[in-house]
Amino acid sequence: MYKYNHFIPLSVYNINNVEIIPEYWYNIVPDLPEPLAPPRDHDPLNSSLDLLNRILPAEVLRQEFTSSRHVRIPEEVMEQYAQIGRPTPLIRAVNLEKFLGFNGKIFFKYEGATVTGSHKINAAVPQAFYAAIEGIKEVATETGAGQWGTATALAASLNNIKSKVFMVSVSFMQKPLRKKIMEIYGGEVVSSPSNLTDFGRAMLKEDPSHPGSLGIAISEAVQYTLDRGIRYLMGSVENSVITYQSIIGQEASKQLEILGEEPDVLIGCVGGGSNFSGFVFPFMKSKVEMIATAASEVPKFSKGKYKYDLVDTAGILPQLKMISLGADYVPPPIYSGGLRYHGAAPALSMLVNNGRIKTDEVGEDASREAMQVFARTQGIVPAPESAHAIATAINYCRNPANSGKTVVLNVSGHGLLDLSIFGE
Ligand SMILES: Cc1ncc(COP(=O)(O)O)c(C=O)c1O
Repeated sequence: MYKYNHFIPLSVYNINNVEIIPEYWYNIVPDLPEPLAPPRDHDPLNSSLDLLNRILPAEVLRQEFTSSRHVRIPEEVMEQYAQIGRPTPLIRAVNLEKFLGFNGKIFFKYEGATVTGSHKINAAVPQAFYAAIEGIKEVATETGAGQWGTATALAASLNNIKSKVFMVSVSFMQKPLRKKIMEIYGGEVVSSPSNLTDFGRAMLKEDPSHPGSLGIAISEAVQYTLDRGIRYLMGSVENSVITYQSIIGQEASKQLEILGEEPDVLIGCVGGGSNFSGFVFPFMKSKVEMIATAASEVPKFSKGKYKYDLVDTAGILPQLKMISLGADYVPPPIYSGGLRYHGAAPALSMLVNNGRIKTDEVGEDASREAMQVFARTQGIVPAPESAHAIATAINYCRNPANSGKTVVLNVSGHGLLDLSIFGE
């Protein structure tokens, strides 16, 4: 076993160390302080719960509702996890510590080290695998910022199936490199609204240069799934997705144990809640402090309400009980596309609501500054979403009350395909 000292880069723990990948995903449901409120139909005549049976791979649907604490990771998925760069490194941010004059320790779990550059691949691989073993030949999904579409395109190809990605029209136009990488991975990318579905055609008839929205893209992906009898993959919010992402926290927990470190605080960013929940839930039994960072332009924690609400703007999927700004809330066009979501995963919402998880909200300027500090100290250009969590961590370390603490941060992705935010 390696003995930690300042001169050994901690990423050495990643080298061929596949034993760090856990054999089970962790599902927090049985360990929550109260039962998780189930998904709910909002239109009894047109059951959205019934719809799930027709659009999700059967095993994903089963896992969505399971109360088992541990869900075995199939061997084939373990192999794919190893292929896409798991375990991801846990790195001590020594330069950032020095820059801040912080006399504690800062570690970060680096999900940007996966081949697609973010944590999203952790949930795409099992869903594509479960679709493939059912004999499904194609999957569909939506993407806003592009990270989820990229992960879906690769996961589908790894499992020898096709993928169709409905990309919100404005992103399609603004992010040609994102589209390109999805195509390189084998995905078919269409600008949404599209003329592939009735819903898209109706939107285009109203406005031929419709900018699109995530709600419209979800509606199109689901309609396309139903029309073709294929399967739909989910990128965040739903419980099965959070369970798949538990790989992040379980690996981090093992890596910290190998180092003999005990975290005082865990910090991550929240869009729909998948990377944060996957990172912190495996630590829930300890006393560690947890801070979830949202964008202050999408102030779900300070202004949202804990209630049943629509997951998608079009109201196709069942409602969930969650902290939400309302499905009709239109977030401003901040550069951090992945944080532009009105709600947060139900289990995470419950734990924020009861005070176990603390929250922070960070604005675009602070996150941009954090992005530059992190790049100039650690060499990694973080994803705009991750930069929000870094900003929270920087503020935490600057507070003299936190001197000497051990901070562990989840850096959910890199921002190398988001550089256009810095202008020409
Ligand atoms: C890099 C990155 N981090 C964070 C998020 C936010 O999503 P979630 O809260 O589900 O992790 C996204 C979403 O697109 C993302 O791409």
